[in-house]
Amino acid sequence: TRPITIKTLNERRSAGQPFSCLTAYDATMARLAGNAGIEVLLIGDSLGMVLQGHTSTLPVTLEDMVYHTRCVARAETASLIMADLPFMTNITTSQTLEAAGRLMQAGAHMIKLEGEAWLAETVTALTQRGIPVCVHMGLTPQSVHALGGYRVQGRDSQQGDVMLEAARTLEQAGAGVILLECVPRELAGRIRTALSVPVIGIGAGPDVDGQILVMHDMLGATTGKAPRFVKNFMTESGSIEGAFRAYHEAVKARDFPAPEHCF
Ligand code: KIV
Ligand code: NA
Repeated sequence: TRPITIKTLNERRSAGQPFSCLTAYDATMARLAGNAGIEVLLIGDSLGMVLQGHTSTLPVTLEDMVYHTRCVARAETASLIMADLPFMTNITTSQTLEAAGRLMQAGAHMIKLEGEAWLAETVTALTQRGIPVCVHMGLTPQSVHALGGYRVQGRDSQQGDVMLEAARTLEQAGAGVILLECVPRELAGRIRTALSVPVIGIGAGPDVDGQILVMHDMLGATTGKAPRFVKNFMTESGSIEGAFRAYHEAVKARDFPAPEHCF
């Protein structure tokens, strides 16, 4: 199969064909997800929680991200590989460039970082050097202490307008993809319409171009209470690769997310 690239994601958006994304942290799971047709594999800093047992993503280091990116890249899937820049690797633009370069050399095809309009300059610097960028907006888990918990963002219309403007600014700065976490369905749809780059959602409703979930959550391996936007695909599938396929098909058919997964 042909490798999935940023161009493929743009084509999917233009054709109105939703695409599926999933976190992956190791070669075996990455291979199974790739076999199931998942378009994007994200080495998420959620590994701090689901692999390392921390209560937030803040303790994750660049070394951790490089290690897991290498593991996923060795699976040699057709999927596009996206890797998270961990907490505090974006203090200066030059530090961000160096950190992103390490992730690209470890096998990433695109890097993701959390932020708002203030990231514009960094996004431009990265894209000028050939590093495609996804900006993660809405609920940004690295800011959990500033946000006062893991809660829906952009609920009031003024907050929503600010987020939409920021997304526009970041697109103009060169962002190739925008990812929205835990925002009302209506706002996510408005942001998707306002942009021309693909928008990926998690807890952002169906009116976006791609969906993403944390692998452990969609396999039913959540310890504690699963967030509202999670669906367990393991129960109906009986195998890990079956669950990945069921998720991929549900995203393609726009059966996931259903209304009960939305805000
Ligand atoms: O780290 C992660 O898994 C993420 C996704 C939830 C988007 O950033
Ligand atoms: Na993340």
